[in-house]
Amino acid sequence: MKPTNPPKTYRVKSFGCQMNVYDGERMGELLAEQGITPAPEGEDADLVVLNTCHIREKAAEKIYSDIGRLTKGKAQKKAPMIAVAGCVAQAEGEEIMARAPAVSMVVGPQAYHRLPEMVEDAVKGKRGTDTDMPAIAKFAALPQRRKSAPAAFLTIQEGCDKFCTYCVVPYTRGAEISRPYSDLVDEALKLVDAGAREITLLGQNVSAWSGEDETGTRQGLAGLIRRLAKVDGLERLRYTTSHPADMDDDLIAAHGEIDKLMPYLHLPVQAGNDRILKAMNRSHTAESYLRLLERFRAARPDLALSGDFIVGFPGETDAEFEDTLKIVDEVRYAQAYSFKYSPRPGTPAATMDDQVPLEVMDERLQRLQAALNRDQMAFNAASEGKTCQVLVERKGKLPGQWLGKSPWLQSVWYEGPENGRGAIGDLVQVDLIEAGPNSIRGALSETVSA
Ligand code: SAH
Ligand code: SF4
Ligand code: F3S
Repeated sequence: MKPTNPPKTYRVKSFGCQMNVYDGERMGELLAEQGITPAPEGEDADLVVLNTCHIREKAAEKIYSDIGRLTKGKAQKKAPMIAVAGCVAQAEGEEIMARAPAVSMVVGPQAYHRLPEMVEDAVKGKRGTDTDMPAIAKFAALPQRRKSAPAAFLTIQEGCDKFCTYCVVPYTRGAEISRPYSDLVDEALKLVDAGAREITLLGQNVSAWSGEDETGTRQGLAGLIRRLAKVDGLERLRYTTSHPADMDDDLIAAHGEIDKLMPYLHLPVQAGNDRILKAMNRSHTAESYLRLLERFRAARPDLALSGDFIVGFPGETDAEFEDTLKIVDEVRYAQAYSFKYSPRPGTPAATMDDQVPLEVMDERLQRLQAALNRDQMAFNAASEGKTCQVLVERKGKLPGQWLGKSPWLQSVWYEGPENGRGAIGDLVQVDLIEAGPNSIRGALSETVSA
């Protein structure tokens, strides 16, 4: 590779989960410290970071087409320096370097603190790959938080030891690690100083987080939430994603006791049939999952529930799929994600017999999504007539429109003054007027002042 001028602007394109979004922000902060600024929208960037996801489909192939578009002048007029980060980088780093000579560096999710050095090397004409996994070293090397949106993400836990048989995450993100309590309190305080009013605690298995508090006492997720709820100026807390195996009594109790902990729980079940759950290496049954939800609902009756589903896991019969629909009918999710099973290289399920044909998966997914959409609409419709707090996150498409989230994570929009009550970052009282499948139209409430 030829030496080149140091990049002046960057763009990070993040795919995949919220942890990738968090990582993308942190990579941006690292580059900014190096004097590289975000490329204004619509303008070419000198450095493009493709922050990739490996969870489903032909994610890797998408990267090669993205690289092609960047280098052949379709995505930008001038070809940028290209960095590939994220979970595909971790899984297929060497292959990417071999197949795509236009890529200057490949950096895994636990090594991106090395991005600045790697950019300097690339300027000198040296390509590099770093897919080491010292996760804690990464966090220690990241700059202080100085900027935040009203709704911020904070990664508290990384990696996964669960090894569901379909999933690549244990291989791309490594073993479960928890970031230290004091680092998290510190980062939360910085985020609030920088404008955050809501923080979502992130992890592949966020409920597996544990750490020692100021007194040396071991705390779980609930303990951390209780501490963060005391931070002045922080109004809302959420967490995602949790695993049914790690939900303890203290966390359930926290939902009933802590006002700042929002009434929303994302708890993936994946499937409703116990034979399939076992083959997936999920440690719960349909019944134990439903009982767990009952306990959460008893602690917080207005809890909105969300989940993830996979249809067409190898060997899944029609009757077994029907059990997934039964779970949906029983739970009545406020919102959920559903996917066709995608064989991931290197995972046990990829080589199992009886892979389900695509047409069958398509048909199952359609039926599942029809049921989930029905419930999501019903949940939103039941909100009509309520008044709730909305955290204003951004302006809408039309002048005078504002967008934010209800406590139940519904998107709410309303028309309000350009200046005054209801600016970005405000928590306002909104009357919920008309529900749609994906958002609710509201109006600033006259009855209660925010
Ligand atoms: N740690 C979380 C979520 C991880 S990935 C959990 O355990 O719940 C997010 C979702 O992607 C999963 O919940 C699952 O529904 C889906 N997923 C993961 N691997 C998949 C695969 N091979 N095919 C289809 N969907 C998959
Ligand atoms: Fe993947 Fe299972 Fe771990 Fe979730 S718990 S990240 S689905 S292996
Ligand atoms: Fe994707 Fe990696 Fe997240 S595979 S879902 S970006 S942990």
